[in-house]
Amino acid sequence: MKEIKTIGVLTSGGDAPGMNASIRAVTRAAIYKGWSVKGICRGYAGLIENEIIDLTTESVSNTIQRGGTLLKSARSKEFMTPEGRAKAYENILKHSIDALVVIGGNGSLAGALAFAKEYDVTCIGLPGTIDNDLYGTDYTIGYDTALNTIVQCVDKIRDTATSHDRIFFVEVMGRDAGFLAQNSAIACGAEAAIIPEDQSNIDQLENFIGRGIRKSKNSSIVLVSESPAAGKGAQYYADRVKKEHPEYEVRVSILGHLQRGGSPSAADRILASRLGVASIVALDEGQRNVMVGVQNDKIVYIPFSRAIKMDKPIDKELIDTLAVLSI
Ligand code: F6P
Repeated sequence: MKEIKTIGVLTSGGDAPGMNASIRAVTRAAIYKGWSVKGICRGYAGLIENEIIDLTTESVSNTIQRGGTLLKSARSKEFMTPEGRAKAYENILKHSIDALVVIGGNGSLAGALAFAKEYDVTCIGLPGTIDNDLYGTDYTIGYDTALNTIVQCVDKIRDTATSHDRIFFVEVMGRDAGFLAQNSAIACGAEAAIIPEDQSNIDQLENFIGRGIRKSKNSSIVLVSESPAAGKGAQYYADRVKKEHPEYEVRVSILGHLQRGGSPSAADRILASRLGVASIVALDEGQRNVMVGVQNDKIVYIPFSRAIKMDKPIDKELIDTLAVLSI
């Protein structure tokens, strides 16, 4: 087993609240072990361009409460090519980096797996994404904060929905995963959630119209997962209601990137801190190419290949809960 003296840490893909808390935890836990820490700026793009700085205990002070990522982030197309990864490896050697901690979502961990397959680089992943779509961990860093942000927004939207007797289709992020939509719908007392995981042939809109709009209800909130693969966002459903049920007054609200910003919740700070420390424990134990996650409140290690390739299911109990409570 290669002795570790220096690690590199980077954030990649969409920023998520709590990424700073995880950079802080990785840095301090590594220094606690006597290792040096290099911060790689702008994710894999900065690794290719040699944008690498020293991180100390002080450099991560006063960061746990901040949103975004102090190391900045990027989605690097170049790193997806063998040439890009070759340049990145040169900088790994230049800075004597023995192991890499990658904080990011699906694409970021897929990048780490490709890199580790080609070069002798030990990689550990931390799930950092608001989407909560990584298999093998109950929660990802940033998800809880984004969920709370959505809840705050929808509570405000409901004031208008109620005052004007309107149906609001509120579109939330999640890429191809419906965790944000489903759970914010439950938390907001919404009438329905339209999520990509619902593979039944039932028309989700008709289902909602038929079941969800009770006579005694004069307003409705429907959370719609952005679902770029299906191309059916909030506007699609609003247009259909306008056409198929013109008796209802409809509005659309797309929450967009405000869901990714803001100070991380306590739950995200704690998760990020625990996973950050656990990533250093994993390296010390000789683990490689695993994502550190949490299952039933216990730290677990999931091989990258499983975390990336397996679809994380949405518990049917969540879907049933919303259906029962929105009668
Ligand atoms: O993966 C996080 C995420 O916010 C997704 O929910 C969303 O689809 C995507 O990133 C948006 O990416 P960008 O900020 O590059 O537009």
